[in-house]
Amino acid sequence: MTQTTAGETRFQTTIDADDKVEPRDWMPEGYRHTLIRQIAQHAHSEVIGMQPESNWITRAPSLKRKAILIAKIQDEAGHGLYLYSAAETLGVSREDLVDQLHTGRQKYSSIFNYPTLTWADMGTIGWLVDGAAIVNQIMLQQTSYGPYSRAMVRNCKEESFHQRQGYEIMLTLSRGSAEQRALAQDALDRWWWPSLMMFGPPDSESTHTEQSMEWKIKRMTNDDLRQKFVDMTIPQAEYLGLTVPDPDLVWNVEREHYDFGDIDWDEFWTVIKGHGPMNRERIQHKVGAWEDGEWVREAAIAHSEKAAARAADTIDARGAA
Ligand SMILES: [Fe+2]
Ligand SMILES: [Fe+2]
Repeated sequence: MTQTTAGETRFQTTIDADDKVEPRDWMPEGYRHTLIRQIAQHAHSEVIGMQPESNWITRAPSLKRKAILIAKIQDEAGHGLYLYSAAETLGVSREDLVDQLHTGRQKYSSIFNYPTLTWADMGTIGWLVDGAAIVNQIMLQQTSYGPYSRAMVRNCKEESFHQRQGYEIMLTLSRGSAEQRALAQDALDRWWWPSLMMFGPPDSESTHTEQSMEWKIKRMTNDDLRQKFVDMTIPQAEYLGLTVPDPDLVWNVEREHYDFGDIDWDEFWTVIKGHGPMNRERIQHKVGAWEDGEWVREAAIAHSEKAAARAADTIDARGAA
């Protein structure tokens, strides 16, 4: 018979009571590893997610749009920082996580491997991609790991601004000229299915879901989150006068949810495995930025060492007086 330790009992009591597990608490190794993988993947997505939008900063159609877009992209860098900090409380270093991203051992969201071809893509990214992120992150506010849950509270406030700025771009385009409406529809056509893929593989194929639900890391399954997103988004598309590219989409009176067509999971796995349209460019750009920033990191370390040495001298001098 296996003996249950005091740590295990306390962990299970915390989970059962919907309380938070904190960094100082005992936790199963599997729980720690699952969280590291998930939080790192989330952090990487925030940071890589800056690239498709930064592509349009210099071409934003007005000063106001440019300022909003820059603020939004800076928020994503901040989200990356909260999340790397949350991951570090589990005993990994940020350098190690960054290295795993750069060498392809850790993933980021498949959505950021698609190109941003027109200004309307800034609208669809805010509306759909940040919209999907909100659905996922609202659920994650209830996650059982304290630092992750608290990072999500702040993230969600900022994501709702991101979603609104994207929707407002779509509203402007869809109320504009025929060309502008066509741009908006084209962007929706290209981003709709990849947005649904953001929730991950179907529950029947999701290897981590069951255990993650038991540990209350995840509070809803991929398919339930995806359904929630579709139900929320279709009325928004209708208000814009745009059509999602899915002939099978229909309101199901009995289920009180939208039924929707089959997702091309081959495309999803192709992109996840590194063969999407932009995978190689995204990582190349990320590694280049990391290398270009090396002198900044070195300067910051040299400065902190000098400051620490000065502080130590001051203490010595006081001691001698
Ligand atoms: Fe974000
Ligand atoms: Fe965002």
